[in-house]
Amino acid sequence: MKKLLSILSILLVFMFVSCSQSNAKSEENNDKNKKDMNKQMEKDGGKMLVVFFSHAGENYSVGDIKVGNTKIVADYISKHTGADQFEIVCEKDYNMPYMKLIEVAKQEANNGELPAYKGKIENIDQYSTIFIGGPVWWGTYPQVMFTFFKDYDLNDKTIIPFTTHEGSGLASCVDDIKKAYPKAKVLDGFAMYGHDVRTNENKVINWLKGLGY
Ligand SMILES: Cc1cc2nc3c(=O)[nH]c(=O)nc-3n(C[C@H](O)[C@H](O)[C@H](O)COP(=O)(O)O)c2cc1C
Repeated sequence: MKKLLSILSILLVFMFVSCSQSNAKSEENNDKNKKDMNKQMEKDGGKMLVVFFSHAGENYSVGDIKVGNTKIVADYISKHTGADQFEIVCEKDYNMPYMKLIEVAKQEANNGELPAYKGKIENIDQYSTIFIGGPVWWGTYPQVMFTFFKDYDLNDKTIIPFTTHEGSGLASCVDDIKKAYPKAKVLDGFAMYGHDVRTNENKVINWLKGLGY
């Protein structure tokens, strides 16, 4: 009986030790993830920001929408990374039928116009990583985004481009960001069909996971 009890107590001690070891291991993993995240933040030295333009109203494939496709992706990014947001809102009113907007945008692009936008970013220095996103309009970002690129020097940042589109993917958006910011660290871009954004948050989550967020 005495022998049995001592075997049982040895077993209990063993179970306790291995259980606390595995708890310690999962805490260790959590800590490691947090540390990796912090390290990345420390290395970059700042916070994250999503800069985007998005057009609500009548659009191709999705009809008359209250919230633009790119804004939905921008909101997913902020939800899953905690990034702040700056929405580029054009002074000019784009509230018009899709077929008219197509023509207006074509002219803006052909003329290299730089339409004004509202508001400004108070302290751009606090951000080290900037997601930049917009719809593809005639093969690149809408012209008003180029006004933003002219106003803000992001050459010392990590830039993560994204687009929503209806077939052109990233088009020349990544190249155009690289041209605007030749010294920035520009990561591979992420493109998503505009008609997909409302039903496919997972695609954004998986992309962000791949980036380590
Ligand atoms: C003026 C205009 C031009 C467009 N040009 C393109 C294009 O060149 N390639 C493409 O794939 N989609 C094009 N689209 C479709 C948009 O990129 C797509 O619907 C996008 O998801 C819209 O995003 P938003 O709702 O955030 O503005 C265009 C849409 C508009 C209104």
